Amino acid sequence: MTGSLVSALAYIGIGATDLDAWESFATDVLGMQVTRAEDPAGVETLFLRMDDRTHRIAVRAGDDTLSYIGWEVARPEDLDTVVIALTAAGVAVKEDSALAELRGVERLVRFQDPAGFELELCAGVRTTAARFVSPTDARFVTVDPQGRDLGLGHIVLVAPGDAGMVEFYTDVLGFAISDYIRFPGILLTFTHVNPRHHSLAFGPGPDGVKPYLDHVMVEVDDVDTVGRALDVVRDRGMSLTATLGRHTNDRMLSFYVTSPSGIGVEYGTSGALIDDETWTVTTWDAAQTWGHDRNHAH
Ligand SMILES: [Fe+2]
Repeated sequence: MTGSLVSALAYIGIGATDLDAWESFATDVLGMQVTRAEDPAGVETLFLRMDDRTHRIAVRAGDDTLSYIGWEVARPEDLDTVVIALTAAGVAVKEDSALAELRGVERLVRFQDPAGFELELCAGVRTTAARFVSPTDARFVTVDPQGRDLGLGHIVLVAPGDAGMVEFYTDVLGFAISDYIRFPGILLTFTHVNPRHHSLAFGPGPDGVKPYLDHVMVEVDDVDTVGRALDVVRDRGMSLTATLGRHTNDRMLSFYVTSPSGIGVEYGTSGALIDDETWTVTTWDAAQTWGHDRNHAH
């Protein structure tokens, strides 16, 4: 078990100028179940399903950027405990029942991290009895074999190196360090809130660069699903940002593609799980054991 009351990455919301391209990408490449509808605010939205949650990713008509990151707690009472910790750290936290309704959760608070990312923390996410049907027969890994929640996948945020991001997530929200990857002049920090090796990683950006979501990773349970998705990417001439490869630290076998919003998507399988009782934090000297070529990816 980890010490964090935050239990999983629940959902993310992004904007897209080309919803048609995103619908095709989510359906044919990622194998997500897409529902296109106006959200209660009247904005045309793609709701992407990966499991029994009503959606995991919302793609709203708008600018091509990350809109919000949704974390969840496993027990409703934990929400209040985290809010007390945030408030004690001087973070402005606002409970928002209208937004909770919009996201399909029972309770929701919102706040910003030190880099200015819009965060939401929710309790009581809504699950649906309607069967999840993947258009590519993909099965997403959002729970481990013991049934423990692993969340939608992981995200990697890039913010200026002195933004205090790692301290905020570890000291205030209780995320646990998984490990580090050190390149010349760059230290990547990986953190977890459940057995998934990392739900959140940090890359230091140069000063003056606006913080951004580098990529979101979703995991499937079969290497052939990854390979077939890669074929579709290549058939369509989409922009691959890293070739097929395996990561050192989380052992993920994956490739990276640029979504129609410009945000990277890592699509992989075989991610490692962490047992905090036996885990040792180490520092790797490379991100991959093979592949993940970023220079000859096209
Ligand atoms: Fe990743």
